[in-house]
Amino acid sequence: MNTHTRTLSPGHRSVDEITGSRRMRRMRKADWSRRLVQENRLTVDDLIWPIFVIEGTNRREEIAAMPGVYRMSLDLAVKEAEGAARLGIPAIATFPNVEMSLRDQTGSHILDPDNIINKASRAIKAAVPEIGIITDAALDPFTSHGHDGILRDGIIVNDETVAQVAAAAVGQAAAGADIIAPSDMMDGRIGAIRQALDANGFQDVAIMSYATKFASAFYGPYREAVGTAGLLKGDKKTYYIDHANSDEAVREAEQDLAEGADMLMVKPGLPYLDIIRRLKDEFRVPTFAYQVSGEYAMIRAAAANGWIDGERAMLESLLAFKRAGCDGILTYFAPQVAALLRG
Ligand code: PBG
Repeated sequence: MNTHTRTLSPGHRSVDEITGSRRMRRMRKADWSRRLVQENRLTVDDLIWPIFVIEGTNRREEIAAMPGVYRMSLDLAVKEAEGAARLGIPAIATFPNVEMSLRDQTGSHILDPDNIINKASRAIKAAVPEIGIITDAALDPFTSHGHDGILRDGIIVNDETVAQVAAAAVGQAAAGADIIAPSDMMDGRIGAIRQALDANGFQDVAIMSYATKFASAFYGPYREAVGTAGLLKGDKKTYYIDHANSDEAVREAEQDLAEGADMLMVKPGLPYLDIIRRLKDEFRVPTFAYQVSGEYAMIRAAAANGWIDGERAMLESLLAFKRAGCDGILTYFAPQVAALLRG
């Protein structure tokens, strides 16, 4: 008589006959064994913290749609950068909210060596030289229409925008940016930025390409943060990737790498894990995700209502990026998660 089936009621087969003794649950039975077989881990070294900067002193404005995220004047931003460095966060990414009077059709204020982004780089570099500074060479916070490109007769013109973005990148490098991260999605911008940086002696400044930036609803709170929500007319579908497409994203990334990108970024994050995995498998280069404002807002809002455990959802979403193949994540949760990971 088969001992496996002896205790089972007639008509039932032994589970081991079905599984062939392979039990996936053995290694899940205790905390120690789960830790032992854990494949991916989130560490402080994976974090890039995006911050919003404004003019003035001792100014801190909470962004309504992003609870816990503030626009900060530079004196406070420097203090926050010091805190981030103490926590071991490797890099921060700065975004400006520019006074409306300084915004125009071409975003010309991006070229001002003393714009808020360049002042932030100089101030943070001077006070916290050990933290990496990433700047977005995008026009949208500087244009009167909120687009990332120069708008002529209702069209975002490519090559004129690229020239503007490349010049802005040189100015940002001169102010101390370590990585230029252009998010405008114009064709040819990576090559133009690389050439401009090299021609001006900034061979060591790297480029993190927002290679696959999708036309997305998840940027909503960011537009409030940088003050473009009320300005933007139309949408960004003529330059960002259609969120229905995946092969197109691979071709974008391929082109950016050929033009000299050092790192790739996928944006938004969580709805695009498939793109992250494809890029990592295809190119094997440093790959990052931007957990954007809308993703942050969703977790915070659900947690505030008591509908999910916010801390666990934060950790789970960030670890998902690692599992998908990311080397790091831009996230507004960076200081919170760094403090948590450091116990
Ligand atoms: C624009 C830019 C955007 C973000 C970063 N840079 C949004 C947009 O394209 O309108 C979004 C960041 C976020 O949502 O957190 N160049």
